[in-house]
Amino acid sequence: MQLRVTSLPGDGIGPEVTSQAICVLEEVAGGFGHDLELDEKEIGGVALEKFGNPLPDATIQACLASQAVLLGAVGSPAFDHNPRELRPEAGLLRLRQELGAFANLRPAVYYPALAACSPLREEIVKGTDILTVRELLGGLYFGQPRSIEGAPGAREAINTMRYCEPEIERIARVAFQLARTRRRRVLSVDKSNVLECSRLWREVVTRIAFDFPDVHLSHMYVDSAAMTLVLRPAEFDVILTENMFGDILSDQAGGVVGSLGLLASASIGGRVGLYEPVHGSAPDIAGQNVANPLGAILSVVFVLLKKIHMPKEEECVEAGVTSILKGGFRTRDLARPGERTVTTQEMGAQIAEFVRLAANANNRAAS
Ligand code: IPM
Ligand code: MG
Repeated sequence: MQLRVTSLPGDGIGPEVTSQAICVLEEVAGGFGHDLELDEKEIGGVALEKFGNPLPDATIQACLASQAVLLGAVGSPAFDHNPRELRPEAGLLRLRQELGAFANLRPAVYYPALAACSPLREEIVKGTDILTVRELLGGLYFGQPRSIEGAPGAREAINTMRYCEPEIERIARVAFQLARTRRRRVLSVDKSNVLECSRLWREVVTRIAFDFPDVHLSHMYVDSAAMTLVLRPAEFDVILTENMFGDILSDQAGGVVGSLGLLASASIGGRVGLYEPVHGSAPDIAGQNVANPLGAILSVVFVLLKKIHMPKEEECVEAGVTSILKGGFRTRDLARPGERTVTTQEMGAQIAEFVRLAANANNRAAS
């Protein structure tokens, strides 16, 4: 099979983790007999430096012509004082829009091998397997009007939270459908005791739920959800929520299971999906070969599973991650005091090697 993937390494630790993810993907393609066509393009700070634009047209075109986009991270303190549209983040937000990626899936899964990484007691975090389904193209991130205006000392800033029914409906359907592949529970998170957007949200989600009688729907205010996520994380299955709440709760879920470095995400709904680790550009450790590439590598798993539907290949990479963690390999973010750590490259190489051996064994069994 032909795999056409655009990679956007981006800023900070993005290039380091993406190159490990690509190594693993190359191993998958080689081992399972697929033809991988890779195209690398710029986004974020690197694109700003080179072209004065955080999302050049050539990047958009390449992404739209591929089957999946693998993104590293965007964001760099060098551009902190730029106007909004000339910040690296603007490139990512526009890319989400251009791709029509309205549904952001962020799993946070507890790995028993990483019990010590969670700040929570094992008996509390054990069994945690959360899928946050975050609406990605609406709410405060894109609502108009938005501005900062007025004389210095008396300026006023405005952002607008805005949602229309079809936007809520389509993300709700994604969440209910995904719940059917899991434990059939959707928790819709809002702030309907205060916000009109949330009242509409709750009303529409409740209506859509009638189409999914086999899925259990409950509602929670976002403040209470934040607390429950820490007190009883294992009770959550699918969290369905709007853009900003989802941004916050998905990071929190990452903290609960022990490492943001492990979280992968898929932004889907449009023609081409965008797959990226949740961790961001981490400029403080960029270029040091210490970042955790597992979030990026697990994003490849997402591509294989969701987009190209290659369950054998997907299982193989996932088994690689579980086995390497069981084997005690730890990047700095996962290591306890005194534990030996491996570099970004070593971690990637371990998974790639696992995939190579597993693919060989698979091919031997098939012949
Ligand atoms: C994320 C990030 C982005 C977001 C930033 C980089 C624009 O925090 O993907 O969670 O807020 O969506
Ligand atoms: Mg975020």
